[in-house]
Amino acid sequence: MAKHIGILTAGGDSPGLNAAIRGVGKAAQNSFDMNVIGFRDGFRGLMENRVMRLEGSALSGILTVGGTILGTSRDKPHKMPMGNEYLDMTDVIVDNYHRHNLDALVCLGGGGTQKNAYRLLEKGLNIITLPKTIDNDVAMTDTTFGFDTALGIATEAVDRLHSTAHSHHRIIVVEVMGHNAGWLALGAGMAGGADVVLIPEIPYDVESVAGAILQRSQGGKRFSIVVVSEGALSKEDAVQIRELEEEKANASSKKQKKAANARLRELTATQAEHTVRLARQLEDLTRLESRVTILGHLQRGGTPSAADRLLATRLGTACAEMIQDGIYGVMVAARGDGTEPVPLDQVAGKRKTVPPDHPWIISARRLGTNMGD
Ligand code: F6P
Repeated sequence: MAKHIGILTAGGDSPGLNAAIRGVGKAAQNSFDMNVIGFRDGFRGLMENRVMRLEGSALSGILTVGGTILGTSRDKPHKMPMGNEYLDMTDVIVDNYHRHNLDALVCLGGGGTQKNAYRLLEKGLNIITLPKTIDNDVAMTDTTFGFDTALGIATEAVDRLHSTAHSHHRIIVVEVMGHNAGWLALGAGMAGGADVVLIPEIPYDVESVAGAILQRSQGGKRFSIVVVSEGALSKEDAVQIRELEEEKANASSKKQKKAANARLRELTATQAEHTVRLARQLEDLTRLESRVTILGHLQRGGTPSAADRLLATRLGTACAEMIQDGIYGVMVAARGDGTEPVPLDQVAGKRKTVPPDHPWIISARRLGTNMGD
């Protein structure tokens, strides 16, 4: 009997999502004669039973389009904003899954989505996921779609900033997304030939960064490009966060835990301005004029790169084949030129950060790139 599948996209959007929806949907319909529907706006649309038909021409002309035709949201099944409160809507989601007689639900998303999908798996649904995010931080997959496109955009920005930094003899500090993983900043920093690259995995010492810039300046290079990940931390902030997290974990009372949490929140709020603060500190320490460029959501917009279209298509079509074979409870991971089903419990709640001895870091250090330590 023909299988029925549902698809949703959750979390931040990412180039390549439409290519993946098309890959799953076309392979499911053309090769396996399945019935395919989409749910709008992630888990929220599944809860509200907002369906989009994905038959016939619905999947045509979307390969090169950015964003997601299904829409997305960051809403979680077990903590859904409902009016003024957050409610556990998992049971409604489970009912809607059965109402559509689904044989499988395909969830396209990053780390958060993998966790939410795993929770639905534990409720007995046949779940299969694909790894998407510009951050490249999903565990157990070589890479995620969206990363290559964002890397290209960030690298082009670094390239362009070089000429203006050079003309004005300035320090340009460019902030790159990536959440708490440094893949995007490290990749764009290396590909764009940045002089300093600061990532969350290596807390930075502002004096060391200023020293590297001054050394360049004394050697006649009167400009510098500093690529900083949005999640990068100074050594001082990293120590403070670690201490507060320990305090929270070891708190003997609710009051103590709440206090540690409040201080953590305060620190994270000021973290949002860390790039501006860093540029100011560098200006003070080097006496060189500095400017800040925050790339933000530019990195998530627009048409996916060829590599991301290819990856999303490979993963999507493999996903349809796994559903046909009755393989559920897995993420379709990219492994070399192929794909591999990885049990969701090995993915959910994990994050792939940059190991300090990663070959990219070794290579950057060999070039003399300052990594902030
Ligand atoms: O996870 C993708 C990402 O773009 C991160 O790099 C960034 O921290 C976050 O999403 C931004 O989220 P939002 O679009 O909700 O502001």
